[in-house]
Amino acid sequence: MLNFDFYNPTHIAFGEGKIADLDTLVPKSARVLILLGGGSAKQNGTLEQVMQALGDRYIKEFSGIEPNPTYETLMQAVKEVNAHDIDFLVAVGGGSVIDGTKFIAAAVYSKTDPWDILLTTGSDVTKAMPFGTVLTLPATGSEMNNGAVITRQETQDKLYFRSKTTFPQFSILDPTRSYTLPPRQLANGVIDAFTHTVEQYLTYPVGALVQDRFAEGLLQTLIEIGPALIEKPDDYELQSNLMWTATLALNGLIGAGVPQDWATHMIGHEITALHGLDHAQTLAIILPTMLDLRRDEKKSKLLQYAERVWHIHEGTESERIDKSIAETRSFFEKLGVKTYLSDYNITASNIDDIVVRLQSHGMNSLGEHNNVTIKISRKVLLKSLFKR
Ligand code: NZQ
Ligand code: ZN
Repeated sequence: MLNFDFYNPTHIAFGEGKIADLDTLVPKSARVLILLGGGSAKQNGTLEQVMQALGDRYIKEFSGIEPNPTYETLMQAVKEVNAHDIDFLVAVGGGSVIDGTKFIAAAVYSKTDPWDILLTTGSDVTKAMPFGTVLTLPATGSEMNNGAVITRQETQDKLYFRSKTTFPQFSILDPTRSYTLPPRQLANGVIDAFTHTVEQYLTYPVGALVQDRFAEGLLQTLIEIGPALIEKPDDYELQSNLMWTATLALNGLIGAGVPQDWATHMIGHEITALHGLDHAQTLAIILPTMLDLRRDEKKSKLLQYAERVWHIHEGTESERIDKSIAETRSFFEKLGVKTYLSDYNITASNIDDIVVRLQSHGMNSLGEHNNVTIKISRKVLLKSLFKR
C-alpha cells in the first residue's frame, strides 16, 4: 500500500537563455559567492552569462572545487563566505560544484566540526544558506535534490549527507551550457542517471504503477539518446532530453513510496575514494554484477525490466534475466565506459581494502532488504574483476 511524503521546493528554469533569470531569482541586495570547478565554466562562456545576469550585485568568485569535491577545499570557501559577509551562493557547474555548495551552505552554520555533517548524514543540520545552481553537466540530479557527497582527502572517506535545508532554491537548466562536455562526461551523465533510476526501480513490486512507468520511460529515453548524444553533443534536443531525464531520475519523484536499493552506489563511492575512478565508472562496473548476484530477490522486477525496457520476450525466465543484464552492460560499453575493475587496473589484491572501508563506514546491511552484507559486497567486487 503506497504511503509517502513528497517534498521538493526547487524552482526549475529550463531552456536556452534562462541564465538571464538569475536577475529575478537572486535577491537584488544579495552578496553573492559564485562557486566554480576547475575552469570549464569560464572557458565556455557560462560564467560570463552568469556575471552579466547578476549585474551590479556584490559578487565574489571561488573556483577550484574538484570532481569529487573535498572537505579541505570547501572549508576554504566557508572562510570566504565569512570574510565577505556573503548571504547567497550560486553554484555554476556539475554535481561536484553543486554538492560542494550544499556542504558550504550547511557548514557555515555548523556549531561543531563541519565534518560531523557527514558523520551524521545531515541529521543534525537545522539551517543552511540559500543557494541556487546553474547546471553545466546533466548527471547527478543534485540540481533538484537535497543530497551531497563529500570526500575528505586526508582520510579518503567519501560520505553523503542530506537535509531538508539543502535543496537549491532554484536551478537553471540551459542545455546549451553542456555542449562543451567531452564524451567521457556525457557517458558518465547517462550512466549515472540510468543507475539512479535502476536503484529506485529494480527492487520488488509494490504496486507503484506510475513510479514504474515513469522509471521505465527515463531508462528508455537514456537508451535512445545516449549514444547519439556522444556523437552530437551540441544537439539541443538530445542535450535537453538528457538534462531533464537526469534531473527527474533523482528528484524524489520516481522514488516516492517505493523501496530503494543504493548498494551499487555505496560500493562505488569506496572505489572512487580509494582509486579515483569517476563516479559513473564505478556504477558501470558494479551494477551489472549486483543485478546478477541478487537476481533471485529481484526476479520479478528483473523480468519486468527485461520486457518493458529491453523488449525481451523470448526464452526462459532465467534467459530473459541474463539477456537484460547483458544488454545493460553492453549499453554502458557502447557509451565507451569499461565495465570491469581490471579495466582500471584494480586487481584482486585491492578488494580487501575496499571491503574494509565499507565495513568501517557501516555499510554492512545495504540494499532494499538490508541484506547486502559485507560478504555479499565482497562477492560482487570479486565477480566484477574481469570478464569470465
Ligand atoms: O571542474 P570543471 O573545469 O568545471 O570541469 C568539470 C569536471 O572536470 C567538467 N565539466 C562540467 N561541466 C562542463 C565540464 N566540462 C566541459 N563542459 C561543461 N559544460 O566535468 C568534470 C566532472 O564534473 P563533476 O561535477 O565532478 O561531475 P558530475 O556532475 O558527474 O558529479 C559527480 C559528483 O557528484 C556526486 C558524485 O559522487 C561525484 O562526487 N553525486 C552526487 C549526487 C547527488 N548530489 O545527488 C548523486 C550521485 O549519485 C553522485 O554520488
Ligand atoms: Zn550517482
